[in-house]
Amino acid sequence: MKKKIIVAIDGHSSCGKSTMAKDLAREVGYIYVDTGAMYRTVTLYALRHGMFQSDGTVNEEALREAMPTVQVSFGLDPATQLPHACLNGENVENDIRGMEVSSHVSPIAALPFVREAMTRQQQLMGQAKGIVMDGRDIGTVVFPQAELKVFVTASAEVRAQRRYDELTAKGKTVNYEEILQNVTERDYIDSHRSVAPLRQAPDALLLDNSHLTIAEQKAWLRQRFDEAVARQ
Ligand code: DC
Repeated sequence: MKKKIIVAIDGHSSCGKSTMAKDLAREVGYIYVDTGAMYRTVTLYALRHGMFQSDGTVNEEALREAMPTVQVSFGLDPATQLPHACLNGENVENDIRGMEVSSHVSPIAALPFVREAMTRQQQLMGQAKGIVMDGRDIGTVVFPQAELKVFVTASAEVRAQRRYDELTAKGKTVNYEEILQNVTERDYIDSHRSVAPLRQAPDALLLDNSHLTIAEQKAWLRQRFDEAVARQ
């Protein structure tokens, strides 16, 4: 039997990383971890506990003190077999996908003590390999030794449209321009923060999926996966 590998999928927000990562994991029987959901869950905690100040900045001291009590984990929906994020045991999957969390998550993800806690947990999850993890710094910081690294991108307009479609399909009333602005702002903050900024690892394969269908990108990833496993 071939050795199990680590698949690191990084890239810009809303470019379909999680869809392709989830599909691959299901197909090859690997564990899927959405690390963005972990930063979103910490953000939800900070929002619920009034840790955002009126100027939009985070009360870092309060969050740092609370971090040991913020438990982020994943549960598996018995019906769909899809993972959902949990905050101290509560399924918060729905809450973390809304605009409120989306527009507050970047400053939380830029805090070194939050990143340290999440990175440690992610590395533990990947100890036994057989994992597909998506995020911003998986191939650069969390698993620099990953056997397959992919960096995914698409134009900001295409990504905003995808997010708009996703949220409206869930019955949410949203504004395209607002989403586009959020996507652009997050790109900027994610790429310019001092700790673990979003960047393509030198050995990552680049995938621009602006003009690819979901089926096409899925096939592309599966082929890269089979090649990586064959190299083991
Ligand atoms: O992938 P997403 O949009 O759900 O991610 C939410 C936020 O978390 C995004 O602004 C970037 C940040 N993030 C990060 O800094 N590092 C990761 N490994 C994953 C996400």
